[in-house]
Amino acid sequence: MNYLIKNARVIDPKNNLDEICDLLIENGKIAQVAKNIKSSGAEVIDAKGLICAPGLIDTHVHLREPGYEGKETILSGTRSAAKGGFTTVCMMPNTNPAMDSAQHIKAAVDIIKNDASVNVKIIGALTAGRKGKELTDFAALKKAGIAALSDDGSPVEDGAVMQAALQEAFKAGLPVTSHAEDLKLSGKGVMNEGFISSKLGLAGISNESESKAVEREIALVKETKTALHFSHISTKESCKAIRKAKKEGLQITAEATPHHFTLTESECESFSGNVKMNPPLRAAADVEAIKLALQDGTLDNIATDHAPHAPHEKEVEFDYALFGIIGLETAFALAYETLVESGLITLKKLIELMSVNPAKIFKLEGGTLKPGARADIALIDLKKEWVYTQEEILSSSRNTPYIGRRLKGRVEHVFVSGRHVLKDGRVNE
Ligand code: DOR
Ligand code: ZN
Repeated sequence: MNYLIKNARVIDPKNNLDEICDLLIENGKIAQVAKNIKSSGAEVIDAKGLICAPGLIDTHVHLREPGYEGKETILSGTRSAAKGGFTTVCMMPNTNPAMDSAQHIKAAVDIIKNDASVNVKIIGALTAGRKGKELTDFAALKKAGIAALSDDGSPVEDGAVMQAALQEAFKAGLPVTSHAEDLKLSGKGVMNEGFISSKLGLAGISNESESKAVEREIALVKETKTALHFSHISTKESCKAIRKAKKEGLQITAEATPHHFTLTESECESFSGNVKMNPPLRAAADVEAIKLALQDGTLDNIATDHAPHAPHEKEVEFDYALFGIIGLETAFALAYETLVESGLITLKKLIELMSVNPAKIFKLEGGTLKPGARADIALIDLKKEWVYTQEEILSSSRNTPYIGRRLKGRVEHVFVSGRHVLKDGRVNE
Protein backbone atom coordinates (compact mmCIF):
# COMPACT_ATOMS: atom_id res chain seq x y z
CA MET A 1 0.00 0.00 0.00
CA ASN A 2 1.19 3.52 -0.83
CA TYR A 3 0.27 6.53 1.31
CA LEU A 4 -0.01 10.23 0.64
CA ILE A 5 0.28 12.38 3.75
CA LYS A 6 -1.37 15.72 2.96
CA ASN A 7 -0.72 19.16 4.44
CA ALA A 8 1.40 18.19 7.43
CA ARG A 9 3.99 20.43 9.01
CA VAL A 10 6.94 18.34 7.87
CA ILE A 11 9.93 18.73 10.18
CA ASP A 12 13.11 17.06 9.02
CA PRO A 13 15.99 18.58 11.00
CA LYS A 14 18.64 16.65 9.11
CA ASN A 15 17.58 18.20 5.82
CA ASN A 16 16.74 21.59 7.29
CA LEU A 17 13.08 21.34 6.43
CA ASP A 18 10.16 22.78 8.37
CA GLU A 19 7.18 23.57 6.17
CA ILE A 20 3.59 22.65 5.42
CA CYS A 21 3.68 20.15 2.57
CA ASP A 22 2.87 16.58 1.50
CA LEU A 23 4.86 13.38 1.79
CA LEU A 24 4.42 10.36 -0.44
CA ILE A 25 5.25 6.83 0.71
CA GLU A 26 5.79 4.26 -2.03
CA ASN A 27 6.99 0.69 -1.64
CA GLY A 28 8.04 1.22 1.95
CA LYS A 29 10.20 4.23 1.13
CA ILE A 30 9.78 7.99 1.18
CA ALA A 31 9.18 8.80 -2.49
CA GLN A 32 8.64 12.56 -2.43
CA VAL A 33 8.34 15.51 -0.06
CA ALA A 34 6.76 18.53 -1.73
CA LYS A 35 3.72 20.78 -1.94
CA ASN A 36 0.61 19.53 -3.80
CA ILE A 37 1.78 16.02 -4.59
CA LYS A 38 -0.68 14.15 -6.80
CA SER A 39 -0.77 10.41 -6.68
CA SER A 40 -3.38 8.03 -7.90
CA GLY A 41 -3.92 4.88 -5.92
CA ALA A 42 -2.24 6.02 -2.69
CA GLU A 43 -4.33 6.14 0.47
CA VAL A 44 -4.63 9.78 1.46
CA ILE A 45 -4.07 10.83 5.06
CA ASP A 46 -5.33 14.26 5.97
CA ALA A 47 -2.55 15.51 8.23
CA LYS A 48 -3.65 19.13 8.55
CA GLY A 49 -2.66 20.37 12.00
CA LEU A 50 -0.25 17.46 12.56
CA ILE A 51 3.51 17.49 12.50
CA CYS A 52 5.25 14.88 10.39
CA ALA A 53 8.60 13.86 11.82
CA PRO A 54 11.07 11.05 11.28
CA GLY A 55 9.98 8.17 13.55
CA LEU A 56 11.35 8.30 17.08
CA ILE A 57 14.29 6.08 18.00
CA ASP A 58 14.91 4.73 21.50
CA THR A 59 18.44 3.61 22.35
CA HIS A 60 17.38 1.94 25.60
CA VAL A 61 14.45 -0.40 26.16
CA HIS A 62 13.97 -3.67 28.00
CA LEU A 63 11.67 -5.99 26.04
CA ARG A 64 12.04 -8.93 28.46
CA GLU A 65 11.81 -11.64 25.80
CA PRO A 66 13.21 -14.25 26.06
CA GLY A 67 12.86 -15.11 29.72
CA TYR A 68 10.43 -12.70 31.33
CA GLU A 69 7.47 -12.79 28.93
CA GLY A 70 5.04 -12.16 31.79
CA LYS A 71 6.38 -8.60 32.02
CA GLU A 72 6.67 -7.86 28.30
CA THR A 73 7.23 -9.57 24.98
CA ILE A 74 8.73 -8.34 21.74
CA LEU A 75 5.15 -8.21 20.45
CA SER A 76 3.66 -6.19 23.33
CA GLY A 77 6.73 -3.98 23.81
CA THR A 78 6.90 -2.96 20.17
CA ARG A 79 3.17 -2.21 20.05
CA SER A 80 3.75 0.04 23.04
CA ALA A 81 6.65 1.61 21.14
CA ALA A 82 4.51 2.27 18.06
CA LYS A 83 1.88 3.96 20.23
CA GLY A 84 4.58 6.27 21.55
CA GLY A 85 5.77 7.25 18.06
CA PHE A 86 8.85 5.04 18.02
CA THR A 87 9.82 3.29 14.80
CA THR A 88 13.07 1.77 16.09
CA VAL A 89 13.98 0.56 19.57
CA CYS A 90 17.25 -0.91 20.83
CA MET A 91 16.70 -3.72 23.28
CA MET A 92 19.05 -4.24 26.19
CA PRO A 93 20.69 -7.65 26.70
CA ASN A 94 19.39 -8.43 30.20
CA THR A 95 17.01 -11.11 28.96
CA ASN A 96 17.19 -14.75 30.02
CA PRO A 97 19.30 -16.06 28.43
CA ALA A 98 21.25 -12.83 28.07
CA MET A 99 22.07 -11.61 24.53
CA ASP A 100 25.62 -12.91 24.88
CA SER A 101 26.03 -15.30 21.95
CA ALA A 102 25.28 -15.29 18.22
CA GLN A 103 22.89 -18.18 18.83
CA HIS A 104 20.81 -16.25 21.40
CA ILE A 105 20.80 -13.20 19.18
CA LYS A 106 19.67 -15.18 16.13
CA ALA A 107 16.81 -16.68 18.14
CA ALA A 108 15.69 -13.19 19.22
CA VAL A 109 16.02 -11.90 15.64
CA ASP A 110 13.61 -14.66 14.53
CA ILE A 111 11.03 -13.56 17.12
CA ILE A 112 11.52 -9.94 16.05
CA LYS A 113 10.87 -10.91 12.40
CA ASN A 114 7.56 -12.52 13.34
CA ASP A 115 6.26 -10.35 16.14
CA ALA A 116 7.68 -6.85 16.12
CA SER A 117 5.54 -3.87 15.09
CA VAL A 118 8.60 -1.59 14.88
CA ASN A 119 12.27 -2.10 14.02
CA VAL A 120 14.21 -3.70 16.86
CA LYS A 121 17.99 -3.63 17.15
CA ILE A 122 19.68 -5.78 19.74
CA ILE A 123 22.37 -4.54 22.08
CA GLY A 124 24.64 -7.49 22.73
CA ALA A 125 26.10 -8.31 26.14
CA LEU A 126 29.66 -7.18 26.82
CA THR A 127 30.37 -10.16 29.07
CA ALA A 128 29.16 -13.75 29.25
CA GLY A 129 25.90 -13.91 31.22
CA ARG A 130 26.44 -10.17 31.95
CA LYS A 131 28.54 -11.34 34.86
CA GLY A 132 31.33 -8.83 34.21
CA LYS A 133 34.12 -11.39 33.86
CA GLU A 134 34.65 -12.88 30.39
CA LEU A 135 34.15 -10.86 27.22
CA THR A 136 31.68 -12.18 24.66
CA ASP A 137 32.75 -12.81 21.05
CA PHE A 138 32.26 -9.30 19.68
CA ALA A 139 32.95 -10.22 16.05
CA ALA A 140 30.37 -13.03 16.15
CA LEU A 141 27.82 -10.77 17.84
CA LYS A 142 28.43 -8.10 15.22
CA LYS A 143 27.87 -10.64 12.47
CA ALA A 144 24.58 -11.58 14.14
CA GLY A 145 23.50 -7.95 13.72
CA ILE A 146 23.85 -6.14 17.05
CA ALA A 147 23.87 -2.33 17.17
CA ALA A 148 26.10 -1.91 20.22
CA LEU A 149 27.44 -3.63 23.32
CA SER A 150 26.40 -3.21 26.96
CA ASP A 151 25.85 -5.13 30.18
CA ASP A 152 22.98 -2.78 31.06
CA GLY A 153 21.04 -3.63 34.14
CA SER A 154 24.43 -3.74 35.75
CA PRO A 155 27.80 -2.03 35.26
CA VAL A 156 31.03 -3.79 34.37
CA GLU A 157 32.56 -3.50 37.84
CA ASP A 158 36.12 -4.50 37.05
CA GLY A 159 37.93 -1.61 35.34
CA ALA A 160 40.39 -4.01 33.67
CA VAL A 161 37.52 -5.94 32.08
CA MET A 162 35.94 -2.69 30.85
CA GLN A 163 39.29 -1.56 29.46
CA ALA A 164 39.69 -4.83 27.54
CA ALA A 165 36.07 -4.57 26.38
CA LEU A 166 36.65 -1.09 24.98
CA GLN A 167 39.81 -2.23 23.18
CA GLU A 168 38.04 -5.20 21.61
CA ALA A 169 34.97 -3.11 20.73
CA PHE A 170 37.23 -0.65 18.93
CA LYS A 171 38.67 -3.49 16.84
CA ALA A 172 35.20 -4.84 16.11
CA GLY A 173 33.92 -1.35 15.22
CA LEU A 174 31.09 -1.47 17.75
CA PRO A 175 29.97 1.29 20.12
CA VAL A 176 29.72 0.48 23.82
CA THR A 177 27.03 1.76 26.16
CA SER A 178 27.72 2.06 29.83
CA HIS A 179 25.37 1.66 32.76
CA ALA A 180 27.66 3.79 34.89
CA GLU A 181 27.32 2.80 38.50
CA ASP A 182 29.76 2.05 41.29
CA LEU A 183 28.00 -0.84 43.02
CA LYS A 184 30.06 -0.42 46.16
CA LEU A 185 28.89 3.17 46.49
CA SER A 186 25.26 2.24 45.71
CA GLY A 187 25.34 -0.44 48.39
CA LYS A 188 21.84 -1.40 49.39
CA GLY A 189 20.44 1.99 48.34
CA VAL A 190 16.89 2.20 47.02
CA MET A 191 16.49 5.95 46.35
CA ASN A 192 18.55 9.12 46.02
CA GLU A 193 20.78 9.80 49.01
CA GLY A 194 19.95 12.99 50.85
CA PHE A 195 17.66 14.66 53.33
CA ILE A 196 14.56 12.87 52.01
CA SER A 197 16.09 9.39 52.16
CA SER A 198 17.16 10.09 55.77
CA LYS A 199 13.71 11.37 56.63
CA LEU A 200 12.01 8.34 55.08
CA GLY A 201 14.49 5.91 56.64
CA LEU A 202 15.44 4.52 53.22
CA ALA A 203 18.99 3.64 52.18
CA GLY A 204 20.43 6.16 49.69
CA ILE A 205 22.29 5.96 46.37
CA SER A 206 24.69 8.91 46.16
CA ASN A 207 25.35 11.05 43.08
CA GLU A 208 28.93 9.80 43.26
CA SER A 209 27.81 6.23 42.64
CA GLU A 210 27.08 7.40 39.10
CA SER A 211 29.60 10.20 38.56
CA LYS A 212 32.62 8.24 39.80
CA ALA A 213 31.74 5.48 37.32
CA VAL A 214 31.29 8.08 34.57
CA GLU A 215 34.75 9.42 35.35
CA ARG A 216 36.24 5.93 35.23
CA GLU A 217 34.74 5.30 31.80
CA ILE A 218 35.96 8.67 30.51
CA ALA A 219 39.50 7.83 31.58
CA LEU A 220 39.23 4.50 29.74
CA VAL A 221 37.88 6.15 26.58
CA LYS A 222 40.91 8.46 26.62
CA GLU A 223 43.17 5.43 26.42
CA THR A 224 41.20 3.25 24.04
CA LYS A 225 39.54 5.75 21.64
CA THR A 226 36.39 3.62 21.52
CA ALA A 227 33.04 5.39 21.08
CA LEU A 228 31.16 5.20 24.36
CA HIS A 229 27.54 6.06 25.06
CA PHE A 230 26.31 6.66 28.60
CA SER A 231 22.92 5.25 29.53
CA HIS A 232 20.43 7.16 31.73
CA ILE A 233 22.54 10.04 33.08
CA SER A 234 20.91 11.45 36.21
CA THR A 235 23.30 13.75 38.10
CA LYS A 236 24.75 17.23 37.76
CA GLU A 237 28.26 15.90 38.42
CA SER A 238 27.99 13.41 35.54
CA CYS A 239 26.82 16.20 33.21
CA LYS A 240 29.84 18.28 34.20
CA ALA A 241 32.26 15.41 33.58
CA ILE A 242 30.69 14.58 30.19
CA ARG A 243 30.71 18.23 29.13
CA LYS A 244 34.42 18.46 29.91
CA ALA A 245 35.22 15.18 28.13
CA LYS A 246 33.39 16.34 25.02
CA LYS A 247 35.33 19.60 25.03
CA GLU A 248 38.48 17.50 25.01
CA GLY A 249 37.22 15.85 21.84
CA LEU A 250 36.50 12.39 23.22
CA GLN A 251 34.01 10.21 21.35
CA ILE A 252 31.40 10.29 24.08
CA THR A 253 27.64 10.51 23.83
CA ALA A 254 24.99 10.28 26.54
CA GLU A 255 21.25 9.97 27.06
CA ALA A 256 18.70 11.06 29.65
CA THR A 257 15.30 9.55 30.42
CA PRO A 258 12.05 11.51 30.69
CA HIS A 259 11.66 10.48 34.34
CA HIS A 260 15.01 12.01 35.24
CA PHE A 261 14.01 15.41 33.87
CA THR A 262 10.36 15.45 34.94
CA LEU A 263 10.36 14.00 38.49
CA THR A 264 12.42 14.54 41.63
CA GLU A 265 13.30 12.38 44.60
CA SER A 266 10.39 13.90 46.54
CA GLU A 267 8.13 11.43 44.67
CA CYS A 268 9.56 8.75 46.96
CA GLU A 269 7.53 10.19 49.85
CA SER A 270 4.66 8.17 48.35
CA PHE A 271 6.61 4.95 48.95
CA SER A 272 5.21 3.77 45.62
CA GLY A 273 7.25 1.15 43.80
CA ASN A 274 6.49 3.07 40.59
CA VAL A 275 8.96 5.80 41.47
CA LYS A 276 11.79 3.37 42.14
CA MET A 277 14.31 3.08 39.36
CA ASN A 278 18.04 2.83 38.84
CA PRO A 279 19.55 5.39 38.68
CA PRO A 280 17.06 6.85 41.15
CA LEU A 281 15.04 10.05 40.83
CA ARG A 282 17.38 12.80 41.95
CA ALA A 283 17.26 16.22 43.62
CA ALA A 284 15.77 19.29 41.91
CA ALA A 285 19.27 20.67 41.14
CA ASP A 286 20.08 17.49 39.21
CA VAL A 287 16.83 17.66 37.26
CA GLU A 288 17.70 21.23 36.25
CA ALA A 289 21.21 20.16 35.26
CA ILE A 290 19.83 17.37 33.05
CA LYS A 291 17.53 19.80 31.26
CA LEU A 292 20.35 22.27 30.65
CA ALA A 293 22.62 19.46 29.45
CA LEU A 294 19.97 18.41 26.93
CA GLN A 295 19.71 22.02 25.82
CA ASP A 296 23.44 22.63 25.38
CA GLY A 297 24.21 19.28 23.71
CA THR A 298 26.09 17.70 26.61
CA LEU A 299 23.40 15.03 26.53
CA ASP A 300 22.71 13.81 23.00
CA ASN A 301 19.43 11.97 23.17
CA ILE A 302 16.35 11.04 25.15
CA ALA A 303 15.85 7.32 25.81
CA THR A 304 13.12 5.74 27.90
CA ASP A 305 14.84 2.89 29.80
CA HIS A 306 11.40 1.26 29.40
CA ALA A 307 11.61 -1.38 32.14
CA PRO A 308 8.44 -3.44 32.58
CA HIS A 309 7.82 -5.27 35.86
CA ALA A 310 4.86 -7.26 37.23
CA PRO A 311 2.52 -5.91 39.95
CA HIS A 312 3.82 -8.37 42.53
CA GLU A 313 7.32 -7.00 41.94
CA LYS A 314 6.27 -3.36 42.28
CA GLU A 315 3.32 -3.22 44.67
CA VAL A 316 5.43 -4.21 47.65
CA GLU A 317 7.42 -2.40 50.34
CA PHE A 318 9.72 0.18 48.72
CA ASP A 319 12.84 -1.72 49.80
CA TYR A 320 11.70 -4.83 47.94
CA ALA A 321 10.26 -3.30 44.75
CA LEU A 322 12.33 -3.93 41.61
CA PHE A 323 13.96 -0.97 39.88
CA GLY A 324 12.42 0.43 36.69
CA ILE A 325 9.35 1.92 35.01
CA ILE A 326 7.74 1.66 31.59
CA GLY A 327 8.07 4.74 29.42
CA LEU A 328 7.48 4.27 25.70
CA GLU A 329 3.93 5.60 25.57
CA THR A 330 4.54 8.80 27.54
CA ALA A 331 8.06 9.81 26.49
CA PHE A 332 7.23 12.19 23.66
CA ALA A 333 4.47 14.09 25.50
CA LEU A 334 6.54 14.42 28.68
CA ALA A 335 9.54 15.68 26.77
CA TYR A 336 7.44 18.03 24.63
CA GLU A 337 5.76 19.62 27.62
CA THR A 338 8.83 19.86 29.84
CA LEU A 339 11.37 20.95 27.28
CA VAL A 340 9.56 22.57 24.34
CA GLU A 341 6.43 24.13 25.87
CA SER A 342 8.60 25.56 28.62
CA GLY A 343 10.71 27.31 25.98
CA LEU A 344 13.93 25.50 26.85
CA ILE A 345 14.44 23.93 23.41
CA THR A 346 12.79 24.09 19.99
CA LEU A 347 10.60 21.37 18.51
CA LYS A 348 13.31 20.79 15.92
CA LYS A 349 15.80 20.16 18.72
CA LEU A 350 13.40 17.70 20.38
CA ILE A 351 13.18 15.73 17.13
CA GLU A 352 16.96 15.72 17.02
CA LEU A 353 17.08 14.38 20.58
CA MET A 354 14.51 11.66 19.91
CA SER A 355 15.25 10.65 16.32
CA VAL A 356 18.20 12.20 14.49
CA ASN A 357 20.80 11.83 17.24
CA PRO A 358 19.92 8.29 18.37
CA ALA A 359 20.20 7.17 14.73
CA LYS A 360 23.63 8.78 14.53
CA ILE A 361 24.91 7.38 17.84
CA PHE A 362 24.32 3.74 16.90
CA LYS A 363 24.56 4.25 13.10
CA LEU A 364 20.95 3.17 12.63
CA GLU A 365 18.71 3.65 9.63
CA GLY A 366 16.16 6.39 10.28
CA GLY A 367 16.14 9.91 11.63
CA THR A 368 15.49 11.40 8.19
CA LEU A 369 12.65 12.13 5.77
CA LYS A 370 14.89 12.33 2.71
CA PRO A 371 13.40 10.76 -0.42
CA GLY A 372 14.77 7.24 -0.79
CA ALA A 373 14.94 6.67 2.97
CA ARG A 374 12.96 3.91 4.66
CA ALA A 375 9.49 5.28 5.49
CA ASP A 376 9.77 5.42 9.28
CA ILE A 377 7.50 8.31 10.19
CA ALA A 378 5.45 9.71 13.09
CA LEU A 379 2.50 12.10 12.74
CA ILE A 380 1.89 13.97 15.97
CA ASP A 381 -0.88 16.26 17.19
CA LEU A 382 0.94 18.75 19.41
CA LYS A 383 -2.24 20.42 20.61
CA LYS A 384 -4.03 17.31 21.76
CA GLU A 385 -4.36 17.10 25.53
CA TRP A 386 -5.03 13.75 27.12
CA VAL A 387 -4.98 11.99 30.46
CA TYR A 388 -2.87 8.84 30.58
CA THR A 389 -4.99 5.95 31.82
CA GLN A 390 -4.23 2.39 32.86
CA GLU A 391 -6.74 1.01 30.36
CA GLU A 392 -4.97 2.38 27.31
CA ILE A 393 -1.53 0.94 28.11
CA LEU A 394 -0.28 -1.43 25.41
CA SER A 395 2.75 -2.64 27.35
CA SER A 396 2.04 -5.86 29.25
CA SER A 397 3.09 -4.03 32.42
CA ARG A 398 1.58 -1.09 34.27
CA ASN A 399 4.51 0.17 36.33
CA THR A 400 4.43 3.88 35.64
CA PRO A 401 4.02 6.88 37.94
CA TYR A 402 2.35 8.87 35.15
CA ILE A 403 -1.12 7.30 35.32
CA GLY A 404 -3.66 10.08 35.73
CA ARG A 405 -1.24 12.72 34.46
CA ARG A 406 -2.44 15.31 31.95
CA LEU A 407 -0.25 15.22 28.89
CA LYS A 408 0.00 17.33 25.77
CA GLY A 409 1.06 16.04 22.37
CA ARG A 410 -0.25 12.76 21.08
CA VAL A 411 1.06 10.49 18.37
CA GLU A 412 -1.71 9.82 15.83
CA HIS A 413 -0.03 7.83 13.03
CA VAL A 414 3.13 5.80 12.72
CA PHE A 415 4.63 4.22 9.60
CA VAL A 416 7.35 1.61 9.88
CA SER A 417 9.02 0.74 6.58
CA GLY A 418 5.88 2.17 5.00
CA ARG A 419 3.53 -0.05 7.03
CA HIS A 420 0.76 1.92 8.73
CA VAL A 421 1.20 0.47 12.23
CA LEU A 422 -0.50 3.24 14.23
CA LYS A 423 -3.69 4.68 12.77
CA ASP A 424 -5.63 7.45 14.53
CA GLY A 425 -3.86 6.61 17.77
CA ARG A 426 -4.57 2.88 17.54
CA VAL A 427 -2.10 0.13 16.81
CA ASN A 428 -3.26 -2.09 13.96
CA GLU A 429 -3.83 -5.73 14.87
O1 DOR B 1 15.55 0.92 36.57
C1 DOR B 1 16.16 0.11 35.88
N1 DOR B 1 15.58 -1.00 35.39
N2 DOR B 1 17.45 0.35 35.62
C2 DOR B 1 18.23 -0.54 35.00
O2 DOR B 1 19.38 -0.26 34.80
C3 DOR B 1 17.68 -1.84 34.60
C4 DOR B 1 16.24 -1.80 34.42
C5 DOR B 1 15.60 -3.17 34.33
O3 DOR B 1 16.06 -4.01 33.57
O4 DOR B 1 14.60 -3.39 35.02
ZN1 ZN C 1 20.78 0.72 33.16
